[in-house]
Amino acid sequence: MTELSLHILDIVNNSTKAGATLVQVDIDESVIRNELKITITDNGCGMDEDFLSKVTDPFKTTRTTRKVGMGLSLFKNAAELTGGSFGITSELGKGTQVTATFVHDSIDRQPLGDMASTMVTLIGGSESTDFVYRHNFDGKEFEFSTVEVKKILDGVSVVSPEILSWINGYISEGLGELYE
Ligand SMILES: Nc1ncnc2c1ncn2[C@@H]1O[C@H](COP(=O)(O)OP(=O)(O)O)[C@@H](O)[C@H]1O
Ligand SMILES: [Mg+2]
Repeated sequence: MTELSLHILDIVNNSTKAGATLVQVDIDESVIRNELKITITDNGCGMDEDFLSKVTDPFKTTRTTRKVGMGLSLFKNAAELTGGSFGITSELGKGTQVTATFVHDSIDRQPLGDMASTMVTLIGGSESTDFVYRHNFDGKEFEFSTVEVKKILDGVSVVSPEILSWINGYISEGLGELYE
């Protein structure tokens, strides 16, 4: 994978596959602290201790289409390659939290990529899941939540093309202001 947003897409897909009704994507980015931290939290089915201890091993997967699971091990490698770190906690029946910390100015750090498109892809692909995206950049904060959007939609589907296109614009603009 060439962009962090593609890792995020993959990791959040694990959450929706695990039956999560709420997925939170937090990006805490600081040039001052030279760090970019991505945290993905879900309330899906979780994993037991034994499975969790082996889950970043590429040969651990519950998928049946191929024998190796790749998402978590690739994400872990991408973080560690920069001199950063990776962690995962999970509780059966409660949910899972994945954290990857990257050294911001490492030449091995992949660019973040297009977070607006990534969130729109996720939202459009899983109507029954709510998504919260928070992005902090050196103390400035942007937040987007489908919970809030649904409140004002008044019955219009959040996955309709018009709404998804609006969400894309809203997130792009918000991030643009963050990086200004
Ligand atoms: N958020 C999650 N909640 C529950 N189980 C998960 C979660 N993330 C990963 N898993 C479990 O870990 C396995 C490995 O995940 P991953 O490395 O992304 O590979 P893959 O999705 O290809 O199987 C998954 O098959 C799934 O069983
Ligand atoms: Mg996966």
